[in-house]
Amino acid sequence: MAGRRPAKSIGGSLAVRETGQMPEATSSSRPDRARGMRTDYCGELGLNDVGRSVSLCGWVARRREHGEHLAFVDLRDRSGLIQCVVDGAADLRNEYVIRVTGTVVARTADTINTELPTGQIELKECVVEVLNIAEPPVFPIADRDGGPTVDENLRLKHRYLDLRRDRMQRNLRIRSRVNAAIRNTMDSQGFTEVETPMLMPSTPEGAREFVVPSRLTPGAFYALPQSPQLFKQLLMVAGADRYYQIARCMRDEDLRADRQFEFVQLDAEMSFVTQDDVLECISEAVLAAAEAITGSRPCEVIPRMTWTEAMERYGSDKPDIRFGLELIELTDVFAKTEAKVFQTQSVKAIRVPGGAEMTRNRIDGLTDYVKRMGAKGLAWFKVKEAGEVDGPVAKFMTADELSAVLARTEAVAGDLLFFQAGDLDPVRTVLGQLRNELGRPPINEGGLHFLWITEFPLFHGTKDDGTPAPAHHAFTHPHVADVDKLETDPFGVRAQAYDLTLNGWELGSGSIRIHKPELQQRIFNLLGISPEDAQRRFGFFLNPFKYGAPPHGGFAFGIDRLAAILAGEENIREIIAFPKTQSGLDPMTNAPTTITDKQLNELGLRVLPPKA
Ligand code: AMO
Ligand code: AMP
Repeated sequence: MAGRRPAKSIGGSLAVRETGQMPEATSSSRPDRARGMRTDYCGELGLNDVGRSVSLCGWVARRREHGEHLAFVDLRDRSGLIQCVVDGAADLRNEYVIRVTGTVVARTADTINTELPTGQIELKECVVEVLNIAEPPVFPIADRDGGPTVDENLRLKHRYLDLRRDRMQRNLRIRSRVNAAIRNTMDSQGFTEVETPMLMPSTPEGAREFVVPSRLTPGAFYALPQSPQLFKQLLMVAGADRYYQIARCMRDEDLRADRQFEFVQLDAEMSFVTQDDVLECISEAVLAAAEAITGSRPCEVIPRMTWTEAMERYGSDKPDIRFGLELIELTDVFAKTEAKVFQTQSVKAIRVPGGAEMTRNRIDGLTDYVKRMGAKGLAWFKVKEAGEVDGPVAKFMTADELSAVLARTEAVAGDLLFFQAGDLDPVRTVLGQLRNELGRPPINEGGLHFLWITEFPLFHGTKDDGTPAPAHHAFTHPHVADVDKLETDPFGVRAQAYDLTLNGWELGSGSIRIHKPELQQRIFNLLGISPEDAQRRFGFFLNPFKYGAPPHGGFAFGIDRLAAILAGEENIREIIAFPKTQSGLDPMTNAPTTITDKQLNELGLRVLPPKA
């Protein structure tokens, strides 16, 4: 047997999102002894290995007969496939677990397989050891792109088979690399990793909580953390100074492409810092994670945009800046209009270059789409030669209004304009969503565009009881310059709150926190929370602040989301080893399940019959 050699790079520095490969870990992170029963991984062999005798372990991906005795056996492990020429392979079936020892040879020119990374070589003079037999897999595993054609429920029911696929193996590694890069960066920036409890008191933090009944205190419940928010702030009171955690969080909310019940955050908090310090430390972590996967930093400094600018230009607080179609302000153009539709607080438009080609059917579809969001309609016209326009709304505009619209939007022949008129908030959000519908590229196209959104309002909208609703959470510090107008103009107060977005996804949120009890109570007053209420609901959190709370602030971003985008996946389920379905079930383990009467008794619980 040839001597063992250090691992080689299989990826170079190309972006994983385009090539399916990522820069390999250094050889020192994967010592030879970790290879166990094998000398090499299948996918790492190449022409440089010709002549070596190697031992490989893995699963039979495919077998093709070649003459009477010989067969080509594709052997698969986590790194890829290699073709083995095996004498007397009759007993080898798909997914059998085998160990093959043989010699690497170059394929002849006419048998080279350009589709396969190892397609220039094969393994000959093979000795095969069957380590285990296997039943036929429930769905084909050889599917190289991960096989979205297989029903997702079936994939989740047999996740251990699904995870054998190339794409899923790659995603597991991407996630692990992202975690490692984040840990390294936080550690090198002087953060201390601290684990916080999973069993905590129920706190009103936003989403619905998962609760756990207490056996020793019947009738009482723990809540699972929605985030370590309260503990991390108490760690600042405790003098930890810089805390981080790769934190598991649990929220009982409706599941979507970017939401699971259980998810993971990089959670961080820092003392004696300004917003700029937090943004810089978090930028380092996400850029290092991106570099670990793509081989290069997508930018040196993550650009910033205020919340107001994002809402005005993109109609969203998580703008996808990979494409144009920005919102165009037209309110002033229609200030004195006779047309009822445009006699509103705000009028804005989107210009679709070349949109005149759009079919009536598609426009009607988009009209239905915005109506489902609550819009009254979708005004539009197409621009023809010489300033002529064509569309149902053109007749509502005077010649002056029309020429002002054409000038402001810089519309030229062949373009299409969509208009929204109404209150400012809905006009922005409706056009923002329409913009995404019209122009949003797939998540893995156009590079990685991180963007900080700053200066969120402190309050946004009102709750059912008429009190202002916090835009982030009740512990967020107002912008210092705006503190004076808290009581007089609460909706005009900016917060020291910031979000990080990536390609139109919200990656994370954070803020500078309130550290003085008086200011905290002023905010609570605005939220309709009396000092007694505050004591009852957050006493365990507020009282420690009397003992010298330092100024502090922090951030949390979703690792599932970051890893999904870095992997080019549109759904975070693809980057989670064992996710739940859209309806919150695990088809593999059948969770959630009922429990026995004995368990219920011990917990002092009784299950009510299902509601009719
Ligand atoms: P927030 O609630 O904005 O902030 O959450 C931060 C980030 O966590 C991710 N996230 C989720 N990912 C998957 N599934 C979910 N259900 C889910 N919910 C949230 C998102 C989100 O941006 N304690 C504050 C942070 C702070 O102020 O420091 C917090 O948790 O990527
Ligand atoms: P109506 O006067 O309701 O028949 O609407 C005339 C045109 O304006 C139709 O194309 C509607 O879809 C559109 N429209 C109606 N209300 C709005 C609105 N608030 N914003 C934008 N377009 C609208």
